Amino acid sequence: MKRKVLSMLLATSMLAAALVGCGGGGESAPAASTEPAAEAPAAEPEAEAPAAEAEAEAPAAEAAAPNGNKVGVSMPTKDLQRWNQDGANMQAELEAAGYEVDLQYASNQEETQVSQIENMINGGCSVLVIAAIEANSLSTVLEKAKSANIPVIAYDRLIMNTDAIAYYATFDNYKVGVTQGQYIIDTLDLDNAAGPFNMEVTAGDPGDNNAPFFYNGAMDTLQPYIDAGKIVIPSGQVDFATVGTPKWSTETAQSRMENILSSNYADGTQLDICLCSNDSTSLGVQNALAANYTGNYPIVTGQDCDIANVKNMLDGKQSMSVFKDTRTLASQVVKMVGQILNGEEVEVNDTTTYDNGTGVIPSFLCEPVFADKDNYKELLIDSGYYTEADLQ
Ligand code: BGC
Repeated sequence: MKRKVLSMLLATSMLAAALVGCGGGGESAPAASTEPAAEAPAAEPEAEAPAAEAEAEAPAAEAAAPNGNKVGVSMPTKDLQRWNQDGANMQAELEAAGYEVDLQYASNQEETQVSQIENMINGGCSVLVIAAIEANSLSTVLEKAKSANIPVIAYDRLIMNTDAIAYYATFDNYKVGVTQGQYIIDTLDLDNAAGPFNMEVTAGDPGDNNAPFFYNGAMDTLQPYIDAGKIVIPSGQVDFATVGTPKWSTETAQSRMENILSSNYADGTQLDICLCSNDSTSLGVQNALAANYTGNYPIVTGQDCDIANVKNMLDGKQSMSVFKDTRTLASQVVKMVGQILNGEEVEVNDTTTYDNGTGVIPSFLCEPVFADKDNYKELLIDSGYYTEADLQ
């Protein structure tokens, strides 16, 4: 079958796949199309795509004729602030570079994301940039992208178990966790303090390949202090499977923390550290603390510098966050899109870390940085990421 032959041919060289069927692009791409992006403003509820797209299978994919100018950007959800920024930055930068953009948000519904990507393929996108909701849910639809010679860049989250992924662009996810762990070590002066300090751990979505990287970065950094008895975990809940938070849900993190507090801290036991992988889970933990804990306030970590969390940082409810400047990631990905479409060498800086089950995906890792109430002005305000008014 033609599709199978095509797939086999393409599998032999991802670079070849990236170059076939691509016209011009990048800086010298044709003038921006005036077609409006298919996306509502960030504040509005997500526009749902029909759950099941009844497009014809192989013929539709092969009929797609990438024209070298249209880029599909598939984002997971508008519920979390960062993806709105990622999508907006990608759209603005791609349009400024002369591309037409099809930006879609999938309401954290895997089947919606699949049908939106299918539409992008059938709609003639030349490159797909995808932040997956669930790492393993896109294999089938991405087979179609591969058959249509459409290279795919995994955005922020690695897409697993498909050989349709040409490149991966993200932040150094392990380093995010290391940064959180190191903050705890420095703040409690764990090299000198005797402890023991009580810690509880809240990790991310088991369906997100980033989540174990964050968890492992932090836990590897803290493990020597756990081994030395300086950090103890009264709930005993420590392995990733137990501390994970499906869909990064604030509510789930909150109810789990409420249970931990009532079972382990209701007798006045001091809680010293809440290691939280990101800001949405950190918010849940902070809500649980506010309602159920009266001891000395613990160290609470996070990631993303979401507005609500930066405000809480200024109010003393969250100690730190890890800042991942979504403008940096968007710029890098726009650069990659141009390099792919121009047939240039694509800039990567990591060719060992991220194996998606079909082999290592060439990656570009941006640098995450530590943020707290002392450096937020320089990092977030002076850089134009937020205004002071955003944080009022
Ligand atoms: C991202 C984090 C984000 C989390 C929840 C992860 O894949 O890397 O920045 O907090 O998803 O959306």
